Amino acid sequence: MTLSLWTDLHLAPEANPDTVIRQACIVVEDEEIRWLGPQEALPAQYAHISQRHSLQGQWVTPGLIDCHTHLVYGGNRAREFALRLEGASYEEISRQGGGIASTVKATRELSEDQLYHQASRRLRALMAEGVTAIEIKSGYGLDLDSERKMLRVARRLAKHFPITVRTTFLGAHALPPEYAGRSDDYIDHVCEIMLPTLVAEGLVDAVDVFCERIAFSLEQSERVFKAAQDLNVAIKIHAEQLSNMGGTTLACQYRALSADHLEYLDEAGVQAMKASGTVAVLLPGAYYFLRETQLPPIELLRRYDVPIALSTDSNPGTSPCSSLLLMLNMSCTLFRLSVAEVLAGVTRHAAQALGHPSISGRLAPGHKADFAVWDIEDLSELAYWMGLPRCTQVVRHGKISFTHEAIR
Ligand code: NIG
Ligand code: FE
Repeated sequence: MTLSLWTDLHLAPEANPDTVIRQACIVVEDEEIRWLGPQEALPAQYAHISQRHSLQGQWVTPGLIDCHTHLVYGGNRAREFALRLEGASYEEISRQGGGIASTVKATRELSEDQLYHQASRRLRALMAEGVTAIEIKSGYGLDLDSERKMLRVARRLAKHFPITVRTTFLGAHALPPEYAGRSDDYIDHVCEIMLPTLVAEGLVDAVDVFCERIAFSLEQSERVFKAAQDLNVAIKIHAEQLSNMGGTTLACQYRALSADHLEYLDEAGVQAMKASGTVAVLLPGAYYFLRETQLPPIELLRRYDVPIALSTDSNPGTSPCSSLLLMLNMSCTLFRLSVAEVLAGVTRHAAQALGHPSISGRLAPGHKADFAVWDIEDLSELAYWMGLPRCTQVVRHGKISFTHEAIR
């Protein structure tokens, strides 16, 4: 048993600006928090812990959680970005064989090692901003071997970096070229071969579907959900991103952990989310990068008290982003979310979207000691700065996993 004591810090145990503890300390036992509270209330039995870290008045929040990423992929789509600047839309590019299909080609061509190295750069950037847990989707392989390769890379990242990774199988992301004109056959292949095989190999923590005009229909999405349900695997959905197809309501019938994007979600969809306890994952990076103008239904989500999470959606096509902090800023400026809402969105609500008991997005006795140390005066700075690194240390499962010299 190893005990360590973190002192002289301001603590936001729930990442909530309304429930902070100034002049606090934290007792960590091995991987977990044993005690936290005001310094003057530290129980006598912890007063003489020899392993001490004074944080000199810095702030501590739960480690951040990036709950929707496509971090593992080959190449990039900077040239497509340039085409869009000349007037082509995301949908047009996708229909002409660009878009997701071009990343599928690049991803299939790379080895596991190459994919690992490309993804590591993005992962390092996220970790340097206090991220201690991340979701990584497949979906740029679209055949059994290539999807397996992506998921194996995600598992390998989890092994080599001090970060918790949850994997999501997104075989139903796009139609691979070899199934052109046969989308139902591809969905059969996803349900009957790919999903059961990859689940049996222990590579899948959840299943996701891109339900959209340019991707898969409601009926096809439901087939994937049924297959996932039969295998006892949690469900997520990319829904209502470009149009209102009803994917969210469908996913809620299968008790989806989260429905993600949601710009075109209507009130019935929000009600369905409320009833099923599904988290709304908003992705301001994709909204911004696609120059979307349809705002997600924030007021309705608030009115029905649906938990809102935020994520980078890190991917080459719609959100080439490796900064979760920038997403906080964009959620405030573009979606008019409050500082309290965005902080909940990358901690406890993001944890709920991942649905794993060891990831809580909170600091409390018995929870994992996953926290980030910030050189800031006020919590609102986490949503305020654009591109100024303020994270000086990250602790994951009780061990220091990242340090950056404090800027003072
Ligand atoms: O989350 N919406 C679908 N999938 C990704 C984009 C994929 C791509 O364009 O490569 C997203 O936005
Ligand atoms: Fe996505």
